[in-house]
Amino acid sequence: MQILFLGAPGAGKGTQCKRLAANLKLIHLSSGDLLREAVKNGTAAGMTAKSYMDQGKLVPDPVLIEMFAEKLSSPACAGGFILDGFPRNLAQAKALDELLVKIKKQLSCVIDINVADGLIHERITGRRVCSKKECATPFHIKFQPPKQEGICDACGAELMIRSDDKPELVDERLKAYHELTMPLIDYYKQKGLLETVEGEGEPEQIFKSILKVLKVAV
Ligand code: AP5
Ligand code: MG
Repeated sequence: MQILFLGAPGAGKGTQCKRLAANLKLIHLSSGDLLREAVKNGTAAGMTAKSYMDQGKLVPDPVLIEMFAEKLSSPACAGGFILDGFPRNLAQAKALDELLVKIKKQLSCVIDINVADGLIHERITGRRVCSKKECATPFHIKFQPPKQEGICDACGAELMIRSDDKPELVDERLKAYHELTMPLIDYYKQKGLLETVEGEGEPEQIFKSILKVLKVAV
């Protein structure tokens, strides 16, 4: 299966994609995680990306398109993948269409996790993420607290606050989402691929809704 997730910053894409990937044995490709890793490693892509991420703006398309062209054509993705955060505008969606033709794959489903803007601030400002890049599990100080404060339940590494999870950046990130990413909802609706899942409520319930639209049992 090749599944694509859409949704606002803080909608719960990472939370749900991690669990889904583990259950369905699919590769989870999070654009944000890949960019943060590139920044940490000081690669050319990372150096370009950093200033945009720090302002809550989208990173230029060529950086993402090149990154995903490489990932999607790797043998690791041959058994199926979950895209989380790419594409994020129409130019990237068209580039993805071309990449999929090249690797002879099709999207099985596009899932939009729908969350009202009013909930996003609290979700983002209370987020803590595992500092180990292979793990990167998201927690929330109120909604999904770790068993031991500051420590990842999954791997025991320290939790950290993402550098773009600043209250003053949330509106900028939401603005980019509304202006540039929301048009993808119609793009994939017209292709007959779109499913909308209510993203407010318990993560467990949302996971069940996702399994239902995918028509899979775990
Ligand atoms: P990215 O890392 O993708 O950030 P994002 O889209 O802003 O989304 P988030 O990761 O913030 O949220 P999420 O939906 O994954 O939510 P999560 O599960 O963590 O991108 C970062 C930056 O990189 C962008 O701003 C941009 O600069 C750049 N970038 C990335 N992709 C790009 C692209 N394609 N093109 C150009 N630039 C790009 O959950 C959030 C919090 O809520 C957590 O604390 C979680 O514990 C909690 N939570 C989850 N579910 C629930 C629930 N049901 N109830 C209560 N709390 C919940
Ligand atoms: Mg995420």
